[in-house]
Amino acid sequence: MRTGTVALVGAGPGDPGLLTLRGRRRLRQADVVVYDRLVDPRLLALAPRRALRLFAGKATGVHALDQDEINALLIAHARRGRRVVRLKGGDPFVFGRGGEEAEALAAAGIPFEVVPGVSAAIAVPAYAGIPLTHRRLSSSFAVVTGHECGKDASRVDWARLGEAVDTLVVLMGLAGLPRIVHTLLASGRRPDTPVAVVRGGTTALQQIVTGTLRDIVVKAREARLEPPATIVIGDVASLSAELAWFPPGLAAVRAPAPPAQAGSGGRYRKGGETSEALTLLSTRGGRGRRPIGRGPGRPARCAPSPSRRRGRPSEAPDRRSARP
Ligand SMILES: C[S@@+](CC[C@H](N)C(=O)[O-])C[C@H]1O[C@@H](n2cnc3c(N)ncnc32)[C@H](O)[C@@H]1O
Repeated sequence: MRTGTVALVGAGPGDPGLLTLRGRRRLRQADVVVYDRLVDPRLLALAPRRALRLFAGKATGVHALDQDEINALLIAHARRGRRVVRLKGGDPFVFGRGGEEAEALAAAGIPFEVVPGVSAAIAVPAYAGIPLTHRRLSSSFAVVTGHECGKDASRVDWARLGEAVDTLVVLMGLAGLPRIVHTLLASGRRPDTPVAVVRGGTTALQQIVTGTLRDIVVKAREARLEPPATIVIGDVASLSAELAWFPPGLAAVRAPAPPAQAGSGGRYRKGGETSEALTLLSTRGGRGRRPIGRGPGRPARCAPSPSRRRGRPSEAPDRRSARP
């Protein structure tokens, strides 16, 4: 019997529309789909009816396969000549243990391919209106796991990262948020560094809580956020307040409230702490804002991020002053 194949396919972070075309093709050809907890059921429906669907992820009260069992399952089905899709949240090679699965397949002589997915690290900030880089606010970003922060043997050097990188994207960091904040403050990040915590990003459950290193722990606790959540730390996190666009179909434009009505505007985001009125305009009808810093007579300027070090004088132009 000919050996089958295994495709490690990235499902994206939640919105099924973020699956790649190659991922969709592999699902349509699948004999077996081994899938994780956060995978949208609409993606499983892409596989042929006859395909075997095997749950491998963790869920409360449901037995989860350990990594060795998952590896063995993939190998066993491929050895029976089947086309196996290992469907994983986000990108298979970003904190997804896809590397270990690929190693096991390689060691067993099973032909495999990796179909990259849209990682939560990129897509969740994007759906929350947070560009990870920005000409004036951020020239670098790092994606780290928050799972290890504070452990004795943490392999994430938070102190150095805090100094070296403008924007930090933290996955699996909700439970460790207090420790992460403490470590970054201790290593010199400004207390007023903006932070956004995005829960259920790209899905109908999307919830954004914004604050600063000074108050985000309290705000996240008050909002009772639950995993999965992605944390963005750095000046770009403040852009969510005006660039948040999801749910789609409408361009959300935050208009400054007339003084008399300040505080009376509707709230758009669950858990958000907006005090500005929010005006929803259709994309066509709305007179959207110009991108920050690109207004007439104000050419975009590059300057180091102001949020890296506590006490460092701000070298970047005031973002608000650049508004048209
Ligand atoms: C085990 S990691 C897997 C990451 C995945 N391989 C990727 O590339 O997105 C799971 C973490 O990704 C983040 N995550 C995944 N889906 C998310 C979502 N819809 N909203 C917010 N964060 C999400 C959370 O930090 C979660 O704890």
